[in-house]
Amino acid sequence: MAQLPISRETRPLGQSGLHVFPIAWGMWRFAGTDLATATAKVEAALEVGVTLFDTADVYGLDNDCPFGAAEALLGEVLAANRGLRARMVLATKGGIDPGIPYDSSPAYLRGAVEASLTRLKVDHIDLYQIHRPDLLAHPADTAGILLALQAEGKIGHIGVSNHTVAQTMALQAHLPQPIATHQPEISAIATAPIFDGLLDHCMAQNIGVLAWSPLGGGRLGNSAGDAQFAALRAKLDELARREGVSRPAMALAFLLAHPAGIVPIIGTQTISRMSTLLEESFRVSLSRQDWYDILQASTGERLP
Ligand SMILES: NC(=O)c1ccc[n+]([C@@H]2O[C@H](COP(=O)([O-])OP(=O)(O)OC[C@H]3O[C@@H](n4cnc5c(N)ncnc54)[C@H](OP(=O)(O)O)[C@@H]3O)[C@@H](O)[C@H]2O)c1
Repeated sequence: MAQLPISRETRPLGQSGLHVFPIAWGMWRFAGTDLATATAKVEAALEVGVTLFDTADVYGLDNDCPFGAAEALLGEVLAANRGLRARMVLATKGGIDPGIPYDSSPAYLRGAVEASLTRLKVDHIDLYQIHRPDLLAHPADTAGILLALQAEGKIGHIGVSNHTVAQTMALQAHLPQPIATHQPEISAIATAPIFDGLLDHCMAQNIGVLAWSPLGGGRLGNSAGDAQFAALRAKLDELARREGVSRPAMALAFLLAHPAGIVPIIGTQTISRMSTLLEESFRVSLSRQDWYDILQASTGERLP
């Protein structure tokens, strides 16, 4: 039986012209360390081949650090190591105003982008993503400010995260160029985008897909874990044993094999795990039946 393609070849970010290594690295959990530790992580990610680095202005709060702390730490790393910026596709997000909770109005987004640039100590963000849909922002207004920031050279390509298909289309309707990326939560645990039309929309419109929490935020790590996903973990373990890889690598392979060209954003802050995951994921050989077996172990329902 033909195996599903899983390769180390770069993947396009939609129609942006940017191509990135098939696994990205995320900085949700990055804040709160010293500069040397942070630098070592960024260098390790580049070393193993990662090119897309995903952060957000709000990252830090979940590590008991202030709003902006993850961007600020990356900014320190980039300022201290001048060669690093040119080696990465730098992606960040804005639009979450904690407590409000969302704001994608023109005035807010202008301030957010300018603050991100200041913290990151860069003059350009390669991919700027609206972190969550603001139900009170008219998409024409959001598109207008994003285009203005693009014209000023502050941001490059435009992406969305956690948007429904309809919300994505509403923003797209006011943009002259295609939205480059969509960033939903997708993993062997969180399979909704496979069924709710989001991945189909991205394939129809040629939008790049970045998967957040591709290991379920750690629930698909190597430990026994809670009972909820026991059947899924057992299936991943069975296939991982067969392929001589770890369970997390098998979980990433499940995403990499999907035809939407998904780029999982791994979030480990452990350097040795980065290299293991990247080395093992591309070694996996998955058949159609393996892929459907993982999906059905996750949903608990046999497909007809
Ligand atoms: N757009 C959004 O709304 C949104 C939301 C959440 C996340 N994100 C993005 O997605 C990125 C990844 O999210 P995530 O951190 O939840 O991703 P993840 O890769 O699903 O989970 C990473 C977590 O799993 C743990 N882990 C346990 N065993 C592991 C193993 N064997 N290998 C690797 N990791 C293991 C890691 O711990 P250690 O660090 O101790 O290794 C880390 O805490 C974020 O950094 C961010 O860029 C976006």
